[in-house]
Amino acid sequence: MITLTLRSVLSLFAAKSVLDSAPDISSPPNFVPAVHSFRATGNNAFYVPSNLHVIVDTGNASSTQDDGLTLIPPSLHDFAQTFASDLQELFPRTSAAVSLGSETTLNRLSDYVFLTLGQNSNHTLADGSSTTEGYELQVTARGVKVNASGPKGAFWGTRTLLQGLVLTNGQFPASVINDQPDWRTRGLMLDVGRHWYPIDFLKEVCAYASWFKMSEFHVHLSDNVNPRGHPDAYARFRLWTDNPAFAGLVPFKNETYSRTEFDDLQQTCAKRGITIIPEIESPGHALVITQWKPELALSTDITLLNITYPETIPTVKSIWKGIIPPMVSQQYVSIGADEYDSDLADDYNLFVNTMSDFIAQESSKTIRIWGTNEPSNKTSVDKNIIQQHWDFGQDDPFSLIRSGWEVINSEDSFQYIVTKDPPTSAFPPQLNQTRLWDGANVGTGGIWDPHVFDRGNASNNPVLSDPRVAGAIMAVWNDHGPNATTPLEAFYCFKEGLPVVLSANWQAASRPGHLTHEQFLAAYPKLEANAPGQNLDRRIASKSQLVARYNPSSRAVSGAVKDTSGNGYDAQPRDGVLHTPLSSKGHNYTILLSLRSPELPVTGSLLSGPDTSFGLAASSNGNGTTLAFTSYNIVYPLFNFSLPATSSTSPELEIILLGTENSTSAYVDRRYAGDFVIALDGTTVFQPMAFVAPVQQITVRNANSTGMQLNEFAVWDGLQNVSEISRMQ
Ligand SMILES: *[C@@H]1O[C@H](CO)[C@@H](O)[C@H](O)[C@H]1NC(C)=O
Ligand SMILES: *[C@@H]1O[C@H](CO)[C@@H](O)[C@H](O)[C@H]1NC(C)=O
Ligand SMILES: *[C@@H]1O[C@H](CO)[C@@H](O)[C@H](O)[C@H]1NC(C)=O
Ligand SMILES: *[C@@H]1O[C@H](CO)[C@@H](O)[C@H](O)[C@H]1NC(C)=O
Ligand SMILES: *[C@@H]1O[C@H](CO)[C@@H](O)[C@H](O)[C@H]1NC(C)=O
Ligand SMILES: *[C@@H]1O[C@H](CO)[C@@H](O)[C@H](O)[C@H]1NC(C)=O
Ligand SMILES: *[C@@H]1O[C@H](CO)[C@@H](O)[C@H](O)[C@H]1NC(C)=O
Ligand SMILES: *[C@@H]1O[C@H](CO)[C@@H](O)[C@H](O)[C@H]1NC(C)=O
Ligand SMILES: *[C@@H]1O[C@H](CO)[C@@H](O)[C@H](O)[C@H]1NC(C)=O
Ligand SMILES: *[C@@H]1O[C@H](CO)[C@@H](O)[C@H](O)[C@H]1NC(C)=O
Ligand SMILES: *[C@@H]1O[C@H](CO)[C@@H](O)[C@H](O)[C@H]1NC(C)=O
Ligand SMILES: *[C@@H]1O[C@H](CO)[C@@H](O)[C@H](O)[C@H]1NC(C)=O
Repeated sequence: MITLTLRSVLSLFAAKSVLDSAPDISSPPNFVPAVHSFRATGNNAFYVPSNLHVIVDTGNASSTQDDGLTLIPPSLHDFAQTFASDLQELFPRTSAAVSLGSETTLNRLSDYVFLTLGQNSNHTLADGSSTTEGYELQVTARGVKVNASGPKGAFWGTRTLLQGLVLTNGQFPASVINDQPDWRTRGLMLDVGRHWYPIDFLKEVCAYASWFKMSEFHVHLSDNVNPRGHPDAYARFRLWTDNPAFAGLVPFKNETYSRTEFDDLQQTCAKRGITIIPEIESPGHALVITQWKPELALSTDITLLNITYPETIPTVKSIWKGIIPPMVSQQYVSIGADEYDSDLADDYNLFVNTMSDFIAQESSKTIRIWGTNEPSNKTSVDKNIIQQHWDFGQDDPFSLIRSGWEVINSEDSFQYIVTKDPPTSAFPPQLNQTRLWDGANVGTGGIWDPHVFDRGNASNNPVLSDPRVAGAIMAVWNDHGPNATTPLEAFYCFKEGLPVVLSANWQAASRPGHLTHEQFLAAYPKLEANAPGQNLDRRIASKSQLVARYNPSSRAVSGAVKDTSGNGYDAQPRDGVLHTPLSSKGHNYTILLSLRSPELPVTGSLLSGPDTSFGLAASSNGNGTTLAFTSYNIVYPLFNFSLPATSSTSPELEIILLGTENSTSAYVDRRYAGDFVIALDGTTVFQPMAFVAPVQQITVRNANSTGMQLNEFAVWDGLQNVSEISRMQ
């Protein structure tokens, strides 16, 4: 995959700039999450060697012992391979080979990382129960021993090792580290129902999150936007099935995950220690079901299923029966079940219990629901069902815990974000860091962790060691629907909040040596930029700010169009298009596109890539042509703008784009043309759009217009001063 190859080159370039400060090797690097115990054992350090021996204890290599929720646990040997490939990605001059061996093998070796398993009674969760996620890391100048309570614990040990190497420029202080999570459930929920995310994006999210020791990725697979009276409002069910009985449930095959893709996601994430927890929503948020079978809707609200209608429960059972086979990888699934009509509490409880029994009987899986405390004195949901608390208006988590339910903390005042929510809305577009680091209690402040539900009243929170707190899952919602963000913008919304939540899940706030906000801020930029196995920032390695520059007439001997930046990204011309070895350029970037066109075409692509494309579109004010980005088939024109007319005597047109994580600005002939924005669905609130630059294909001749030609294309890292950009000849 080209992005990863390029990332490796990037770290090679990056290594130069990080060598300037000599690290302090007596104190632990600022790992995120912090480790539970660190003891320096001398003044020396382990240095990344040019040949690393990754030795897996022969007696443990095939062990898959795992007390988490996965049913497809990788072996210690599998995790060793992921580690070796990550190390090579981060340190491209090192080669790492995995082999089997034993502790005696180490006597005649140096430059090794030895992975072994051993029961360690100190590796316990906050509630005192044992965990296979604990590990001990013994680091000496000769090599590193990772001795873990289970294969996944060893994998987390390799994350700590790699983070330390990244943070201290390829060296790790001689030390003994003992570490394990305080909570088993450490997760992210992503609303893939109201926005389309390609499977590759979800895989990259796993790689990013696993760097911070996430254990569960809760994927919210069906939902709808607020229909506001429109029965045909956007509603999606994301698992594809060939069974014609469900054709009406999945009319948009292009926006579903096939069985193969979903299996691949589960396997890919498992290899990085993450279990996929799928959620199919009902009996609320179920417009996609009532669009398929309108007779199942409550007459009072088309997004709610009428549970007492005879066909409703059989239909929901048939959906689960139809999709359970792809759900091979986990012990738990979520049926959603939030925001139903509280006047129908007994119907609701019957529904949840019926589905719980059915799913247990069909697949031996346990269900989760969004936390609820239905106002019924007659019935309740069964105690074996896990409640995922999100809002005090829906339940009282401590009361649920005292009554015997296991509860996951997704309390919205700490852990909810809605992508692109404007400032006046209930939920922020990014987690409130001030609150996470110093707002656990309204009166006394303090760092939040998963046993804190109620900010206002500490007596309404269970104790740290309460075994009924499973952990916490941060939630990312797309209430504004499919066109308010691009997939990568969702990443920009959660990328800084997620490591903080995962860190709080790994280590209770009261532990000595807990990470501080200051330490987090010191480590985060480097850790964010180096999470292996993904390139969500769409970075491109470059020797200088100029990443690539093409003049179609400047051919190299091979017939390729030469990249004059010095990076060697020569492009292949084919059918009027330059095919570069690049894909997308993330923020910050500057693009220069210089064209000649005696007559402007009204539509047409100028640049394209895997995430976005860029070109011309009919102006929204009905006058001529404007500029537009397209992302996953949704066109985002530049509003209130028309390109100046060109002619045979004045055919030149020059477009400059400046992209940041928060905005995309366009300049035409060096004059500011506007920023790309979107009107949030159903409102007149305009929000800025951040598009990555498509740099895979560059149109040289536009087939739709006579004589439109590219003069020059250039892409820079960073924001260039528009008035100072100079053109090649
Ligand atoms: C790990 O290997 C050791 C030594 O071969 C063995 O005693 C132990 O049972 C193994 N543990 C697991 C979980 O495989
Ligand atoms: C457990 O922790 C105690 C206290 O730090 C230590 O003395 C003991 O050696 C540890 N046990 C193991 C098996 O690491
Ligand atoms: C791994 O740790 C366990 C528990 O402390 C210990 O019994 C075992 O000897 C250690 N294994 C190695 C190879 O150091
Ligand atoms: C739900 O279905 C039942 C049974 O068909 C019907 O009697 C009832 O009116 C429906 N309720 C609503 C609110 O649609
Ligand atoms: C349940 O019982 C309590 C106490 O008797 C009463 O106040 C409440 O109204 C009842 N709720 C329902 C839904 O019947
Ligand atoms: C973030 O949280 C702090 C502490 O609770 C609060 O004072 C502040 O208003 C919050 N900021 C936003 C933007 O909600
Ligand atoms: C990107 O541009 C923004 C806006 O000018 C700036 O605040 C930010 O620091 C830049 N980021 C980088 C990595 O240069
Ligand atoms: C030509 O115009 C058609 C229709 O507007 C458009 O779909 C197509 O992408 C354009 N082709 C190019 C190369 O711009
Ligand atoms: C999927 O197909 C539908 C119907 O043709 C289309 O409207 C939608 O934009 C497509 N989605 C994507 C992500 O391409
Ligand atoms: C249409 O766009 C052209 C080119 O930008 C401009 O000269 C002209 O004034 C615009 N006409 C109207 C009615 O906006
Ligand atoms: C981008 O927006 C986020 C909030 O959405 C803000 O925290 C950040 O400072 C902004 N960055 C720039 C460079 O404007
Ligand atoms: C966004 O999508 C919604 C739902 O498809 C649609 O109603 C709305 O008009 C779109 N908004 C914009 C600004 O394109």
